[in-house]
Amino acid sequence: MKLVKTIVEVREQVKQWKKEGFTIGFVPTMGYLHEGHGSLIKKARENNDKVVVSIFVNPMQFGPSEDLESYPRDIEKDSKYVEELGGHLIFNPEPEEMYDDGFCSYVDMSVLTEELCGLSRPTHFRGVCTVVNKLFNIVQPNNAYFGEKDAQQLAIIKRMVKDLNMDLQIVGCPIVREEDGLAKSSRNTYLSEEERKAALVLSKSLKIGKELLESGCKDAGKVRDAIVEYIEKEPLARIDYVKVVNALTMQQVQDIKGEVLVAMAVYIGNTRLIDNFMY
Ligand code: PAF
Repeated sequence: MKLVKTIVEVREQVKQWKKEGFTIGFVPTMGYLHEGHGSLIKKARENNDKVVVSIFVNPMQFGPSEDLESYPRDIEKDSKYVEELGGHLIFNPEPEEMYDDGFCSYVDMSVLTEELCGLSRPTHFRGVCTVVNKLFNIVQPNNAYFGEKDAQQLAIIKRMVKDLNMDLQIVGCPIVREEDGLAKSSRNTYLSEEERKAALVLSKSLKIGKELLESGCKDAGKVRDAIVEYIEKEPLARIDYVKVVNALTMQQVQDIKGEVLVAMAVYIGNTRLIDNFMY
C-alpha cells in the first residue's frame, strides 16, 4: 500500500494500472476512518482491481464557524486501517496541493443543495461538489463509493455525475451503526460520555418514525412531529432540522408517495450529528 501526497503521483500510478487493464475503485474520505469508511473500502475491494482512498479534510466545505481546525486527524492509524482492508493507494494532499493561489473554479449545484443541510450550511455542498469533482478528475475511477449516512451528499453526487456526464458509477453503501444504534461518524469522538448517551435520540427517534410509516401512516407531518417530540425530551439535544423529503429531489413532501428520505441533523451539545433512513 502506497501513500502519496501529490496529484502527479496519483496520476502516474493510475495511468500505469489502467495500462495494465485494472479497474479502479475510489473511496473519498476526510480521514479519521471508522467502520463506516471500512465498509466502503471493502465494497470497493470486492468490485475493483485497485482501490484508491483519499484522505483530505477539505477546507472548502467548512463554514467560518465550523470545526475545520479541530476535525480529528490520524493519518498513521488511517494508513494501517486502509492497508489491513487491502486498499492500494492513499492520496493525502495538503490543502495547497488541491487549491493553489488563484483558485477560482467551483461546482455550484442548485435545488438539491438548498434543502436539509444546505439551509444551515449554505456553502457546504459547493465545497463538497468542487472537491469531489477535482478528486474524480485526479483519480479517474471506474466506481466511487459513498455512505448513505450522508444521504443528501450521495443524492447530490449522483445528480452531479449525471448532469455533467461524468464517466463513472456512484455506489451508495448502507449506514454502519454502533451496537446501540448510533450511526458511526468521525465526529462521534467529540461527544462526552453523557452526550454519547444523549446521541441515541437520533436513531431511536428515527425508529419511531419508521414504525409509524410501517403501520401505514401516509402523513409526512405526523411522522415528523413524532420524531421531533421524542428528540425534544432530551435536554442535551437541539434540532437543526427533521424533514421528510422526496428521496431524489430532496424537496419536502406532505403525503408519503414513492421513495422518501426521513433525515435529521441534531446538535448534541456542540456536536452536529446527522442520521436518516429511506422508506
Ligand atoms: O463525506 C465526506 O467525508 C466528504 O464530504 C467527502 C465526500 C470526502 C468530500 O470531502
